Amino acid sequence: MKNGRFDYNLPGVEIKESTRGCCFPLSEKLDKVRRLEEGGVAAVVMYSLFEEQILRESLQLDHFLNFGTESFAEATTYFPEMGHFTLEPEVYVDRLHSIRQAVSIPVIGSLNGVSTGGWIEYARKIEQAGADALELNLYYLPTDPDLTSAELEDTYVQLVSDVRNSVKIPLAVKLSPFFTTLPNLARRLVKAGAQGLVLFNRFYQPDFDLEALEVVPHLELSTSSELRLPLRWVSLLYGRISADLAITSGVHTPEDMIKSIMAGASATMVASEFLSKGIGRAAEMIAGFQHWMEEKEYISTMQMKGSMSQRSIADPAAIERSNYMKVLNSYQS
Ligand SMILES: Cc1cc2nc3c(=O)[nH]c(=O)nc-3n(C[C@H](O)[C@H](O)[C@H](O)COP(=O)(O)O)c2cc1C
Repeated sequence: MKNGRFDYNLPGVEIKESTRGCCFPLSEKLDKVRRLEEGGVAAVVMYSLFEEQILRESLQLDHFLNFGTESFAEATTYFPEMGHFTLEPEVYVDRLHSIRQAVSIPVIGSLNGVSTGGWIEYARKIEQAGADALELNLYYLPTDPDLTSAELEDTYVQLVSDVRNSVKIPLAVKLSPFFTTLPNLARRLVKAGAQGLVLFNRFYQPDFDLEALEVVPHLELSTSSELRLPLRWVSLLYGRISADLAITSGVHTPEDMIKSIMAGASATMVASEFLSKGIGRAAEMIAGFQHWMEEKEYISTMQMKGSMSQRSIADPAAIERSNYMKVLNSYQS
């Protein structure tokens, strides 16, 4: 980060051929979004428009208006290889508009960025294109030892406040789980204008290819076991911050949906399950959810919402420590 802004001098990780064309398989095509609606999903979040895409386009324009080839080449070294993200920002906005016209469920735009700046004007463009809400995905891996957590969190809070001031539609913030004091940051983000928190971003951990001696980005779809992390945090945050909570990461079955609601989530979000088993899973999961409710005689989701949260526990941190000790003691070889 330099002068309150992040730089983009990212290592040149090559995108492997096998991952090409797979990036936005759910929300890119109109027919898929229509089928998701028919399957009963309550809303669709579009794939993200990245800060880098927007800045790159404005640099390109700047170059054509003012500079020679070399200066542009130098400037673009600060950007990751665009790979899949070749869509121009305006095309993103047009596509969102077409999807909005094609379905009647809410369509949520998604911006992925980490620094404040002119690019957040796109929040307004997404709103004007008809988005029912905006999700701001904060995805940044701090690698600079001089950058403190307080500085990074201040930047995030400022960004949320700037985006909040650009639009009137509801704003949700998608976070990673890697913060020292997540509840405090969550509360600050809500104070800055986030009405919803989406827990959590999955960091895609790169692997080493020992034959080619290359770092390879490795996209593995999630499994239900990954639900536990957002489940724990939603159950800890529910009732302690005044925002709606959504769970993403590890929702694969009706049971995963039920657990999420019981933890306190207002929404469960699904990507990997639909990618691996197809969009038809939406209707199956919803039917399974309803069947479970009927069997257990729940009359509404509100009745179960937050019922397994830690809302009424005075000191959840102490319970967490005691559970940690219990879990270690419970192991039997
Ligand atoms: C192929 C693929 C593309 C994705 N693209 C985006 C994206 O553009 N923006 C975003 O916020 N999340 C994106 N995600 C993350 C998902 O929205 C979701 O948060 C994550 O996969 C965890 O949910 P899951 O366990 O249901 O897969 C993507 C995930 C996959 C697998």
